Amino acid sequence: MEKQRLDKLIASTGRWSRREGKCLIQQGHVTVEGTPVRAPETKVDPQEQEVCVHGQRLLFREFIWVMLHKPGGYLSATEDRGGPTVMDLLPPELRRQHLFPVGRLDKDTEGLLLLTNEGGLAHSLLSPKRHVDKVYYARVEGGLGQEDCQAFAQGMILGDGLHCQPAGLEILSATEGLVTLREGKFHQVKRMFACRGKPVVYLKRVAMGNLTLDPDLPKGAFRFLTDNEIENLRKLV
Ligand code: URA
Repeated sequence: MEKQRLDKLIASTGRWSRREGKCLIQQGHVTVEGTPVRAPETKVDPQEQEVCVHGQRLLFREFIWVMLHKPGGYLSATEDRGGPTVMDLLPPELRRQHLFPVGRLDKDTEGLLLLTNEGGLAHSLLSPKRHVDKVYYARVEGGLGQEDCQAFAQGMILGDGLHCQPAGLEILSATEGLVTLREGKFHQVKRMFACRGKPVVYLKRVAMGNLTLDPDLPKGAFRFLTDNEIENLRKLV
């Protein structure tokens, strides 16, 4: 990495705005190689020099990866198209990092949504060729049975002629199931259940590839992915 201004570097972590970074520096909370630096314009090489805020080392990544527990009522989009978007759930300093959702969940669907500014990996994860599993918890009307599992496993042909790849359905109760998809067609889970005459009344994505929705993440909250989690995503593609 090239040398960069210290305040810009701190803001690039997405945890503080440029102004907050500047204040932290001026108040002496930032050290470079163990020495407090109070000039925000100081140039630093984040690969070579250790930067700490409040004594905690900052890890600089080229890209940001965020796990969001999406609530219902938010569009998986970066721009407001007539309603709140998932970007509204992020703090302003993160909204400035050119993040975008990795795939879409319907407005009323809840659960695991990744956001990143790493286009290459995001694109690969979504590519139908990569077969990255997406797991959804669904509550439906009507009783689920083994014949539904068989229909999902065979690969359904929907009313409009859409061919679905074989999908997994694990029945949790007469009205609840876990669906595993390897593709992500528009409203796919809802359309597959509708085709079986069992409309979905609630849908939540609980996993994507080797990443599951963090049970400690309240609805509407986000956290950064750990280095390990990002590495594991890379292994999928
Ligand atoms: N399938 C759906 O029907 N909706 C979603 O949001 C995701 C998968």
